[in-house]
Amino acid sequence: MSRKEQVLSFIREKRGEWVSGESLSREFKISRTAIWKHIRRLREEGYGIESSPKKGYLFRTASRMLLPNEIREGLETTVFGKGEIFYFKEIDSTNTRAKDLAIKGALEGTLIISETQSGGRGRMGRDWFSPAQEGIYVSLILRPNISPVEAPKITLLTAVAVAEALLSLTRLDISIKWPNDILINRKKIAGILTELSTELDLISYVVVGVGLNANTSQFPPDIRGEATSVFLETGEYFSRVRFLREYLKQHEKYYDISKKIGFGPVIDRWRELADIIGRRIKVRMLDSQYTGVVEDIDENGELIIKGDEGGYQRVFSGDVTLE
Ligand code: BTN
Repeated sequence: MSRKEQVLSFIREKRGEWVSGESLSREFKISRTAIWKHIRRLREEGYGIESSPKKGYLFRTASRMLLPNEIREGLETTVFGKGEIFYFKEIDSTNTRAKDLAIKGALEGTLIISETQSGGRGRMGRDWFSPAQEGIYVSLILRPNISPVEAPKITLLTAVAVAEALLSLTRLDISIKWPNDILINRKKIAGILTELSTELDLISYVVVGVGLNANTSQFPPDIRGEATSVFLETGEYFSRVRFLREYLKQHEKYYDISKKIGFGPVIDRWRELADIIGRRIKVRMLDSQYTGVVEDIDENGELIIKGDEGGYQRVFSGDVTLE
């Protein structure tokens, strides 16, 4: 723990009580000016700390920024987010940085977080709207022991984890749109971008990027009709830190289940949350489109569609519109 973090935890534990500059300076054997510099830095990081020449310092509120220490505080996982957390005020794309780090050997569970992205990427070459401090832009490095054809399962698993986290923290009516959009009232609230690198028949790493519209208050005109945020749906500020902790917990839980007993329970939960089976859909793929009724989703996450002209089609990637 750095000295600044030690000062923070000292005044934090005294919640509601003033701590004099002198006692801090004695505790940490540094000057009162040095203490003041740490406090100033903590305030810049968004911590609510009052100061008074007579009484000293009073911890009031935790930072709302996605600071690694805030995320670690009370994080109920064993691997995800327990190792390295790379935190940026701004970055081009957390997924791009995660891939660089994965190539250099970053371990499973490593997190890359940014307050904003200048080149946030979505599926099918789209951009991801990433306003500063409003959304969550996070990438997680995984090293699953599965073959590349099974990789779509990781996206389904992530969608279940994001949906579960939202369900446990809000009363919103969350659903999943195949393969990886999280919706509220038919509007998109979160998306997942999974990227992987393979060697022969093995996955060397998977980067799972999640973008969540947490406190976004306004969207650009081109997506305004189809996007929403937790804040817009509830009218209340949504704690990004709490969400991140809950998402990591859910993700690790389902990931462990999939390793121990397979993807069956994940797919079952996905089916419950997705509300797509039996629905008529249109799927746009890169160079074709297909219309039919969804019969099922198989254990690899592929949609099985009964086509309008008869016959069945398996679809593993594309854009779905419910009809
Ligand atoms: C989609 O629905 O099209 C996927 C959106 C994924 C966005 C996230 S934000 C964090 C990570 N970094 C990126 O550049 N993209 C993903």
